[in-house]
Amino acid sequence: MNDAAKAPFWLTGNFAPLATENELSNPTIEGTIPSDLNGRYLRTGPNPMSGPTDHWFLGDGMVHGIELSGGSANWFKSKLVQTPMLNMRGDADYLTESMASLKNGLGNTHVVSHAGKILALEELHFPQELTPDLETVGAYDYNGALNTGMTAHPKVCSKTGEMLFFAYGLMPPYLTYHRVSADGELLQSEVIEVGAATMAHDFNITENYVIFMDLPLMFDMKRITEGGIPLMWSDDYGARLGVMPRKGSNTDVVWYDIDPCYAFHSLNAYEEGDKIVIDVCRFDHYLKPGVPIPPEQLTRWTIDTKAGTVEEKKLMEIPVEFPRVPDSLVGQKHRFGYMAHMSEEFPAGVGVLKYDFQSDQVTEFALPSGQYCGEPVFAPREHASSEDDGYLMFYTYDEASDTSDFVVIDARDVEAAPLARVKLGVRIPFGFHGSWIAD
Ligand SMILES: [Fe+2]
Repeated sequence: MNDAAKAPFWLTGNFAPLATENELSNPTIEGTIPSDLNGRYLRTGPNPMSGPTDHWFLGDGMVHGIELSGGSANWFKSKLVQTPMLNMRGDADYLTESMASLKNGLGNTHVVSHAGKILALEELHFPQELTPDLETVGAYDYNGALNTGMTAHPKVCSKTGEMLFFAYGLMPPYLTYHRVSADGELLQSEVIEVGAATMAHDFNITENYVIFMDLPLMFDMKRITEGGIPLMWSDDYGARLGVMPRKGSNTDVVWYDIDPCYAFHSLNAYEEGDKIVIDVCRFDHYLKPGVPIPPEQLTRWTIDTKAGTVEEKKLMEIPVEFPRVPDSLVGQKHRFGYMAHMSEEFPAGVGVLKYDFQSDQVTEFALPSGQYCGEPVFAPREHASSEDDGYLMFYTYDEASDTSDFVVIDARDVEAAPLARVKLGVRIPFGFHGSWIAD
């Protein structure tokens, strides 16, 4: 077996890191960029700069951004997040070193904007603040008020502008909740009691509640020196959803048992009378020893807070990931969800799906063989007249040319040809999440 055959997937093909940053001005456009898209699409991902890493999740963050205005693409950049970890080797002590300071965040998992700041997130550390031009300002800790890391999936309430988030810990406290005002002040931090250190990647908000997902993907710190991420499925831990008023604390959490499963991501959640609806991409199990990872499927949990029950319904067989609703509907009832139709071979998309929860209809922007995509991000049309009146944007990768494009499609008609395709001429490694940050 040669070295290439032994390399893990995240160091091969289009998962492999770029050797250098890239910067293009006025890239070639096919079609027409909608003139009401004024701002920047910023998406991050792992890009290990100093050798192999023990896991895909541990690569240095690189943000791939494009600035649009008045129908033009002003620039495209791939820029490293400048962190204290940037030039460390990815050896067995990497995770230990990274845990030495909350300032060691890689910024490789999500980019969000809140209260005038752009934050590149991972999930065990403080965010890294970026400028709109993708320069790194440095670790951001809410003027010293934040005493834990921050999930890569904070939720900004579309009604109040508050940002609600949590952090999990490898040591106690294992789960902490935080509430930030619309103008960026950390107002509340609460320790939430859970049974052990688990990987809690995402959570949910509704108009009145936050909902934690306490799922059986466990950290085993005895294995930390073995390299990689010491995570394992547990048949014993159980699985539950914790519903807490947004301004509540640990004693207010009502826990609901569910069938054991794992979900990295939720699409959205909302209240309907006494019920709380949560749509997630659900695995039957994840990292269960000796068992292949099953496909991830769109699943709806309906919590009946009066009856104390949770109903679970699988909505679709197609494997999906990277689910999104418009930012304006986070915590509010959605009709449509957008997500990547995942390849069965590796964690990248082969198309963008639109799911209509009213009709259970699915439509797809299907990519030709040899092309891949990631998470679709929604941006509303100016004077939008319906929930889906807007655009979906994402990067694609073409194996034959080894280059990527930035693609904009019409969210009302995802099966149609793209509205615009910006030819970047360079590749963007497969990565994680991003945001459209309008001016
Ligand atoms: Fe994520």
